Amino acid sequence: MNDSSANAPVDTAAPGTWTVPFLRSVLDAAPEGIVICEARADGQPLVYANAAFERLTGYAQGELLGADLRVLQGSDREQEGRACLRQALERGSSARVLMRNYRKDGSQFWNEMLVEPVRDVTGAITHFVGFHRDVGERERAVNERERASAARTIGGLPTWMREDRLTGLCARAYFEELLRHDWLSAQRETRTLTLLMFDVDALGAYNDTFGRPAGDACLRRLAGVISAAFRRGSDLVGRWEGGTICALARNTDQAAVAGFAAGIVQRVLEQRIHHPRSLPDKYVTISVGIAMINPGPKQQAEILLQAASKALARARSAGAGPVVEANDKDFGR
Ligand SMILES: Cc1cc2nc3c(=O)[nH]c(=O)nc-3n(C[C@H](O)[C@H](O)[C@H](O)COP(=O)(O)O)c2cc1C
Repeated sequence: MNDSSANAPVDTAAPGTWTVPFLRSVLDAAPEGIVICEARADGQPLVYANAAFERLTGYAQGELLGADLRVLQGSDREQEGRACLRQALERGSSARVLMRNYRKDGSQFWNEMLVEPVRDVTGAITHFVGFHRDVGERERAVNERERASAARTIGGLPTWMREDRLTGLCARAYFEELLRHDWLSAQRETRTLTLLMFDVDALGAYNDTFGRPAGDACLRRLAGVISAAFRRGSDLVGRWEGGTICALARNTDQAAVAGFAAGIVQRVLEQRIHHPRSLPDKYVTISVGIAMINPGPKQQAEILLQAASKALARARSAGAGPVVEANDKDFGR
């Protein structure tokens, strides 16, 4: 920031009087990449990038002024984060996403960004501000050896993003990456994939009764019970969201899957975790949706996720058993 007025005395005790140059020097000095983009112009052109963003991307601010930041994606456009971000921008809401981006020299980095709308006094969105950091960089600082192994993993997700902090199971993003990977090999080898989706019944009521920390402890315990049932190296167990846990199994005995899931339901019940608002036993219970498929050449992994979640929704509804297998309709057949 070369503007000499930035050095004019500022009464820092009175934020309402802070000058634009003063505030700008704060942005310029921030350790995190910060950009400001116009909201109303096509492609949300960039109007400001701080020094940390220049370091992050290798581009000087002058090269980015007026540009749409999708340039940082290069030709790597098929990314979940992109769709998520676009929807949030269209809705005018904030979004936190992780995307593969490319510096000016072509090297890849994992850009974790939080994009927030900025409104004028009438409430209209005039700009979006983005806060960016290279999560790979943070990981490198934490553990150089871990970084090397992260680079070898499918999709290259950093270590801290592979594990769900609460349960120690696979995090959703990593589970999805591995599911897609397994999906492709099952397509090639005409193998069956089985997805089991477990949900803790009335977890919200449990949290309301005993508090969130107790709910978290309950979920951790159930995650242990469920993952203990999937011991084969080829099995994969991950936390989907809230009280939902997914398990992906290969080459399962199709006739035995429902019985296997019922065994897990029973083991959960045997934990005798008291839940005064759970009927009829007043213990914590789970419901399970199961979907099995031999992936066809043109099918996407989403079909398996959707079928399992539809079966789970039925398992959770009153009158259904705790274990429900997906039917043809759930697969859209
Ligand atoms: C404030 C702001 C910051 C952004 N920063 C990045 C970024 O660093 N990297 C990136 O790949 N996309 C970034 N984007 C997103 C792209 O500009 C674009 O909105 C996104 O790719 C979705 O649109 P598309 O599907 O038309 O490409 C940013 C968008 C805004 C509004």
